[in-house]
Amino acid sequence: MSGLEELPDDPEAVKMPDADDRVPVRLGVNGRARTLRVRPTQTLLDALREQLRLHGARSGCGVGMCGACTVLLDGRAASGCLTLAALCDGTEVRTVEGLESPSGELSRVQEAFLRHRAFQCSYCTSGFVLALEALLAVDPAPGETAIREAFSGHICRCGSYSRIMGAALEVAGAADRREQA
Ligand code: FES
Ligand code: FES
Repeated sequence: MSGLEELPDDPEAVKMPDADDRVPVRLGVNGRARTLRVRPTQTLLDALREQLRLHGARSGCGVGMCGACTVLLDGRAASGCLTLAALCDGTEVRTVEGLESPSGELSRVQEAFLRHRAFQCSYCTSGFVLALEALLAVDPAPGETAIREAFSGHICRCGSYSRIMGAALEVAGAADRREQA
C-alpha cells in the first residue's frame, strides 16, 4: 500500500494550521507570568511588541544581523526576530524594561551607558545592554575580547561604538586592563 492511499478521505483531518490560528504560550516576562495566544509564525519580537506593548526590543534587519531585537531567553541573549513565540512555552523572557529594580533603579549596565552617553538615537541600545547583561551573568569580569564577542552581531548605525565599549569596559571593571589589538 502506498503512502498516498493511507491518507484519510476527509481533507479536514490533514488540515495544516492556518496562519491565523492561535496557540497558547505560557511565559515568564520580566518576572511576571503571562499567557499569550500567538500565531504559529509570529516571532517573539512581534509578540512582545504587539501583545505586551514592550517596545524596548526593536525590529531592525529582521534576519538576525543587527541585534536590535535582542532579549534574554532563560538568561541568554537571543534574537527576538528569529525566535518563534510558539516555541517559547515555559521560558523566562527578560526585556530591557525588566532590568530596573522594583524601586525603579536602573541596572548598573544601564547606568554606565547613561554616564558614557553611549548612544545617539538609542535604537540599538537595548540590544547592546542586554548582550552585556547576559555576558556579565556568566562572567562577572569579562575582558575586552569577551565583550567584543558578546557585541558581535550588534550594529550601531550612529557609530557610538567607542562610547558603548567605554561603558562596557567600565561596568566590567576592565577599563584599566584594556587588551591591545
Ligand atoms: S531585527 Fe533581529 S537581529 Fe536585526
Ligand atoms: S545609537 Fe543610534 S543606532 Fe546606535
